[in-house]
Parts: sequence; C-alpha cells; structure tokens
Amino acid sequence: MISFSLADDDVRAAARPSANEADWDHRYRGDQMWSGNPNGTLVNETSGLTPGRALDVGAGEGGDALWLSEQGWSVTASDISQRALARIAAEAERRGARVECHHADANALDAFEAGAFELVSAQYASIPRTPDDRAVRNLVNAVAPGGTLLVVSHDLEPMRAPVDTLAHGWPFDPDAYVRVDDFAAALASSPAWDIEVHEKRPRPAGAASASHHVDDIVLRACHRAS
Ligand SMILES: C[S@@+](CC[C@H](N)C(=O)[O-])C[C@H]1O[C@@H](n2cnc3c(N)ncnc32)[C@H](O)[C@@H]1O
Repeated sequence: MISFSLADDDVRAAARPSANEADWDHRYRGDQMWSGNPNGTLVNETSGLTPGRALDVGAGEGGDALWLSEQGWSVTASDISQRALARIAAEAERRGARVECHHADANALDAFEAGAFELVSAQYASIPRTPDDRAVRNLVNAVAPGGTLLVVSHDLEPMRAPVDTLAHGWPFDPDAYVRVDDFAAALASSPAWDIEVHEKRPRPAGAASASHHVDDIVLRACHRAS
C-alpha cells in the first residue's frame, strides 16, 4: 500500500528521478569518469558488421557511441543519466560527430523503439535487475530483424566469495544487476535468435570503463531476418 501511494504521489508530481537515476547523475557531477576510448569488445565484435542504426544502452560518456558514429553508424546513445548524455552531446559537438541522445531508464515501459536497430549494444551497463526481466526484453525487442545484440559485463563471480559484512560497509550483490546470462536464457529457446558468442574472456585493454575487474562475460546474438 505504501509503495503504491508513493508511486501515485510521483505520478501526480510528474515523477521524481529514481534512486538509480539520482545515483548516476551524482557520479557524473565531477571529473570525467571513463577513458573516452571505445570498449575493445565492441570494436572487435562489430568490425564485420555493415553500419546501420545502433543503440548504445548505458552509454556513459559516449566512448562507444562516438566511435560507432565515426565508423558510419547512425547512433542513438541512451542512458538513465542526463548528465552523462550532456557529456556525450558536448563531445559530439566538439568532434563534429552526430549522436542522438535518448534519456531512458532501460527498465521503463517502452524504453526503446522496437525492432529499429541493426546493433543494440550494452557495455558494462549496470542496469538493476527486475523480477520481470524488463530491461532484457526492452533491449532484445529493440533489435531489427537481421540485427545484432551485443552485451558485455564484468565477470562478477569472484565477488560471490564470502565477505565479512561487518568489515565492508556496503555488501555487493552480483545478482542485483542484469546479467549477460539473463539474455542468454531469454534467447536460448527462441527460433528467431542465434547465439553466436556466449563466453568468459579476459578483459581487453584500453576499455572505456577502467576497473579492477579481470574477466568479461560476452554475448553476441543475431536476430534472424524474417
Ligand atoms: C559502468 S557505466 C558504463 C558506461 C559505458 N557503457 C562504458 O562502457 O564506459 C554504466 C552506465 O549505465 C547507466 N545506467 C545505469 N542504470 C541504468 C538504467 N536503468 N538504464 C539505463 N542506463 C543505466 C549509468 O548511468 C552509466 O552511465
């Protein structure tokens, strides 16, 4: 009852930012966070594709979106953080690149245009997991027939090791975020999809998101042309 009443308040007040949005906007208030380089897996996995429309979900500061645009893709960079999108727009203007910015929570209803993108990419997107796998469906549904879905995340398995929660102020739950395996599970039994890559790999050097993580989980899947 309480949460319905709070949700009702938000609707009447034309919605306030979610905690997730406020958190990321807060992180993007200061210095540049990422390297600005495109992620190595994106570069490797898209090199054989013919440019079309691309959607970069959780685009951050736009290292990938700007690189894709410079390779001839028509790019929509999407993020929950308006501040991140403002950084992308400023960098696109500085480089004379074209990137459309789309402010969306990947967990929102109808977050993305359905069936519209020859490439949907999510690189380390840190999207909260919901019981209905909403973000998974939103990304999958955005891929055009014949298009490619590319999802990359850190391998969080090492973080399952037991921690002394009294010594760590903020215990981390690897299952709180959308996992690459959630996409694999959603597509595995679908006749409309071919999973071309689903594996653990060492993290490529020079990634946009510098971090302490060692391995990545990579999924590349093709939506069969109907
Ligand atoms: C670790 S950063 C990765 C940024 C970029 N893809 C890169 O590799 O540098 C995660 C990004 O996901 C965005 N994000 C988090 N939750 C999201 C959500 N629910 N919907 C859309 N974007 C989200 C954050 O704002 C942040 O920019």
